Amino acid sequence: MKTLGIGLVGARYGARMHLANFAHLPPGSAVVRGLCARTLESATALAQENNIPFVTDDFGALLARDDIDVIDLCVPPALHHEFAIRAADAGKHIIMEKPLTGYFGAPGDTEPIGRHVPRSRMREGAMRNAEAVRAAVRRNGVRFCYAENWVYSPTIAKMRRLIGASKGSVLELRAEENHSGSNSVYSRDWKSNGGGALLRMGVHSVGACLHLKQWEGEVRRGQGIRPVSVVADTANLVHSPAADRARQANANRWISADPIDVENWASLIIGFDDGTRASVLVSDAGLGGLNTRVTAYMTDGVIKTNMTANDAIETYAPDATVFGDEFFTEKLETKAGWNRPSCDADWFRGFAQEITDFVGAIRGDREPRSGIDLAVACIDVIYAGYVSAEEGRRVSLS
Ligand SMILES: NC(=O)c1ccc[n+]([C@@H]2O[C@H](COP(=O)([O-])OP(=O)(O)OC[C@H]3O[C@@H](n4cnc5c(N)ncnc54)[C@H](OP(=O)(O)O)[C@@H]3O)[C@@H](O)[C@H]2O)c1
Repeated sequence: MKTLGIGLVGARYGARMHLANFAHLPPGSAVVRGLCARTLESATALAQENNIPFVTDDFGALLARDDIDVIDLCVPPALHHEFAIRAADAGKHIIMEKPLTGYFGAPGDTEPIGRHVPRSRMREGAMRNAEAVRAAVRRNGVRFCYAENWVYSPTIAKMRRLIGASKGSVLELRAEENHSGSNSVYSRDWKSNGGGALLRMGVHSVGACLHLKQWEGEVRRGQGIRPVSVVADTANLVHSPAADRARQANANRWISADPIDVENWASLIIGFDDGTRASVLVSDAGLGGLNTRVTAYMTDGVIKTNMTANDAIETYAPDATVFGDEFFTEKLETKAGWNRPSCDADWFRGFAQEITDFVGAIRGDREPRSGIDLAVACIDVIYAGYVSAEEGRRVSLS
């Protein structure tokens, strides 16, 4: 079977993460042959570090190459749907970082759009974008690999097996993520990110919950358990009177989130067609490093997963410099005191396993575990959540 040629788009955090995990694949399965970024400087720097022969700042030039079979999109969300459709129409398979898409503005919108455009209109636009990608993928017969790493975390894989081994039902899922703010400058405004914490982080939690209920349904009754309703609330905690008071007392310097027109806290409850619920809680006001957990409360058991900072290894240091540059966990403020560094963050968080599955799916001409249907369903739930939060009501899903 031939070696897959990968064309990577983006040259920052997501792209580095994908590159690190392509490098662990068995030789001959896939090789990154081209890299495209907004600027040649950024693309060239990362390409040189990783011996990638072709560099461009023109996405069309990457698509035009015959030695590239797969386009791996690690660009800001506003570019996702357009780049994915162009890639599919050029006959390329697609790997795409989360989220699939969103609403990024339309001619005539008052800016900043996050403060002015009604969420119901945003929901229609986001779903149009999402369905356009699904249609392009189907029309062109290419594979779409949705890089929802939570689905691939070994903790979620074990949760699947445990649910499968029990005879009970998952009555409630709780999924949460928090940290002190995104690394990406694009995350600050709705126009480039399509939303705030609910989309940026909540898409992982929602993805994991939808995936688990789909899987539980397939195992128990031969068809997935579908989400049918959403209730949500969102807030801008970072720019609240409470945060302003802390700023005046110079007690706010650890939270880096500085949103323009997006929320940085959200709570969302999904109702499923079997009468069960999943609750999702996300926040940019979470010190202590990245926190990502999913818990299943079942009729016959409880399963708690923790993808980051679990106690497989614990450290103590009287000073933050003791362990030098050794990586602990993302967005941790200090290595002083007691800590729980991740033994292998890429493995625990599912990044290594997702890349392996995607390359296997494309080479083996099969659906990846996380594909286009999950990607579209996440946008449906999250934008229903935005409508719910704005209009103060439960929103039904189509
Ligand atoms: N799964 C996860 O846990 C996770 C974590 C982080 C991010 N992500 C996802 O990864 C994606 C990228 O985020 P990030 O934080 O890595 O990146 P970022 O800081 O948002 O930077 C985006 C990258 O896209 C490039 N870019 C922008 N416009 C472009 C264009 N027109 N053509 C080609 N390249 C363009 C930029 O080029 P320059 O460098 O030249 O500016 C930059 O390298 C997002 O979808 C994000 O949601 C996922």
